[in-house]
Amino acid sequence: MQLYSMDSRDIQKIKEKFLKEISGTKKPDERKKVCKRYVEEELSSVFSSLKDLSGENKTSLGRAANELRQFILECLKEEKKEAIKEKEKIDVTLPGKITEAGSNHPITSLRGKCEEIFSKMGFAVVEGPELENEWYNFDALNFKEDHPVREMQDTLFVKQKERERLSSQEKLLMRTHTSPVQVRYMEKNDPPFRIIVPGRVFRNEATDSSHEINFYQLEGLMVGEKISVAHFKKVIGFFFRQLFEEEKISIRLRPSFFPFTEPSFEVDVSCSICSGKGCSVCSRTGWIEVMGAGMVHPNVLRSGKVDPGKFNGFAFGVGLDRIAMIQHKIDDIRLFYGGDLRFLKQF
Ligand code: PHE
Repeated sequence: MQLYSMDSRDIQKIKEKFLKEISGTKKPDERKKVCKRYVEEELSSVFSSLKDLSGENKTSLGRAANELRQFILECLKEEKKEAIKEKEKIDVTLPGKITEAGSNHPITSLRGKCEEIFSKMGFAVVEGPELENEWYNFDALNFKEDHPVREMQDTLFVKQKERERLSSQEKLLMRTHTSPVQVRYMEKNDPPFRIIVPGRVFRNEATDSSHEINFYQLEGLMVGEKISVAHFKKVIGFFFRQLFEEEKISIRLRPSFFPFTEPSFEVDVSCSICSGKGCSVCSRTGWIEVMGAGMVHPNVLRSGKVDPGKFNGFAFGVGLDRIAMIQHKIDDIRLFYGGDLRFLKQF
């Protein structure tokens, strides 16, 4: 085509060619390229040829070329919008994003299992406050005024104004065990009853592989008429056999001391890992110490407004962390509270 003979009909032909090419494309990106080529190459050569023309022809060709340029630029704008839309489109055939599901903390799982086992024996699950007062934590549990555990080095006391002048009901502390819930429950409920109290407890302790400033206990309390140590042994034997899923577990009681039980014992279970033969978990003794327990002291029943002449019972306290450590052969209690996902993901 010779440029000097060009007129507005040629522009019409360029437009038709453009539209044909555009309709032959499939993607917005290809269409963008076509638009650009028409503006930058085809039309710019028309514009540069205008200088060789004159008069009416120059004006009408210029106008037609400008209109076409405008038209193509509009198309380009549309294509850009389309391209954006395309990018935002959801491709339903793509594999979905995998969201990682968390898992229960080993102490949470253990707590759930314990609740399940004790529920089978008719125990109710009860909770109590972590912020406790001195009366429930110590006095009501028959701790003498000068008992060493009341010292700052074992208990986390709450700073209070003129604390010395407060009564023990008013003095606050972080509970050092779940035993205060024994008294709280007895005050409000008439025997017979059986409860377990899982919960968090606090100690003012230097941490090491077997000590933490907070850990979990599970308290047990059964009160009724003529409750004996035999009842306790039966309940606790059933519990450990179910927990460790092992029929051949034996229980052993050793004399001990707690202000709130009389007599008191330490409870050992035969080592489920070596079946009592002796291994590193049981320090080659064949037995693992798992809880403190005893027959509820008459003074504690009195604190809970239960008549010791009519009722008696047993109580026990088991460290959930310790049980979880035995179950999973974990040698450092601090791992439970470090929040390290590499550790937690194993459960
Ligand atoms: N409260 C005791 C402790 O923290 C455990 C215990 C509970 C002992 C109930 C006897 C009876 O060590």
